[in-house]
Amino acid sequence: MNTKRLESVEEAAEILRRGGLVAFPTETVFGLGVDATNERAVRRLFEAKGRPSDNPLIVHLAQKNDWPLAAREVTPAAGPLLARFAPGPLTVVLPKRDEISQLVTAGLDTVGVRAPDHPTAHAILLGAGLPIAAPSANRSGRPSCTTWRSVLQDLDGRIDAVFCEDAVGCGIESTVVDCTGSAPTVLRPGGVTVEQIAAVLPHVDDPTRTAPQPDARVRSPGLAHPHYQPRARVVLVDSPEKAAGEAVAYCGIGAAPPIGANVVHNATFADVQQYAAAFYEFLREADRRGADTIFVQRAPHRGIGHALGDRQRRAAGEV
Ligand code: TXA
Ligand code: MG
Repeated sequence: MNTKRLESVEEAAEILRRGGLVAFPTETVFGLGVDATNERAVRRLFEAKGRPSDNPLIVHLAQKNDWPLAAREVTPAAGPLLARFAPGPLTVVLPKRDEISQLVTAGLDTVGVRAPDHPTAHAILLGAGLPIAAPSANRSGRPSCTTWRSVLQDLDGRIDAVFCEDAVGCGIESTVVDCTGSAPTVLRPGGVTVEQIAAVLPHVDDPTRTAPQPDARVRSPGLAHPHYQPRARVVLVDSPEKAAGEAVAYCGIGAAPPIGANVVHNATFADVQQYAAAFYEFLREADRRGADTIFVQRAPHRGIGHALGDRQRRAAGEV
C-alpha cells in the first residue's frame, strides 16, 4: 500500500469517510484514525498497528457535545470533567452506544471518548462527521509519535495516509478517567494532571498514584501489554552522573549530560512540561542514532511529571 502524504484536511476527512486509515496530529500524540462504525476498517487498523485485540480504542469527536455519537449518556462524574477539560487531553469512559463496533471497545460495554484540542485534528473530525476511533499512531509496543516522520517510520506502507504536520501540545497521551462506576477512577495518567482532576472531582480514585494495580489492568485491559519501548535499553536514573557506556543517550531536566560516556544523543530541558513534550521523539531519535542504552532521568512525581514518570517506567519495562 502506498501511504499518501497529506496537507489537505478535506482529503483526510474523505479518506476516513471511505473507511481508510489516516494518521493525524493532536495536542497529545499522533492518532491513527478510522471510522468507529466500520468493522472492516477497524479490523485493518488493529492489523496495521499489530495491536492486541483486547486493547480498546478511544473514540475521537470534533466537539464534546458530539458524545451521543458514541455514548449512551454522560454520567454525573463525566459532566464536570467535560465542562472543565474538553476539548483537551482528557478521555472519559462512558456507557457505550450499540452503533460503536465491539471491536473498538474490545468487547467492553463502555467507550472512551475524547475531543482533541488541536486545530487540524478538530477540522479533520468535523469534516469526517463520524465518531473516529484513534489509537496512538505507532506500531504496538513502541513509543508514541509526535512527528509525522516518526509515524512513517513505523507505519509507511501500512496505512492509507498521514497528515504532514507535527503534533504540538503536551506531548503525552490523554488522561483516561472511568466515569461509569460509583467512584470515578483514573485509569491512565496523562495531559490533564490528577491534581487538576481532583480539583473538579474531589472523590476521584487514583490507583495510578501507587503504580501497577491489578484492578486497573482489568478495567483498562490495554495496560497489561508492553508500551512505549524503543529498541535501545532504557535505564531510569536520578542524576546524569549514572550514565556510562559505549553508545549512550541521556535526557533529563536541568543538569548537563554525563562526561566520559560516548554520548550519541542528549537533551536537557528547562522544565518538566518541555521534558514531557519531547520525551517520545527523544527515544526515537536515540534509536536512529544507534544508542545502546538510553539513560532517562526520572520525572518529578507531581503535575505532568506523574504521567511522564508512568511512561518512563513502561519504556524501561518496569511496569
Ligand atoms: O491522547 C490520546 O489519548 C491518544 C491520542 C491519539 O488521542 N490516543 C491514545 O490511544 O493514547 P491508545 O489507543 O494508544 O490508548 C488508549 C488507552 C488504552 O490504555 C486503553 O486501554 C484505554 O485508553 N481505553 C480505551 N477505551 C477504554 C474503555 N472503554 N475502558 C477502559 N479503558 C479504555
Ligand atoms: Mg498507545
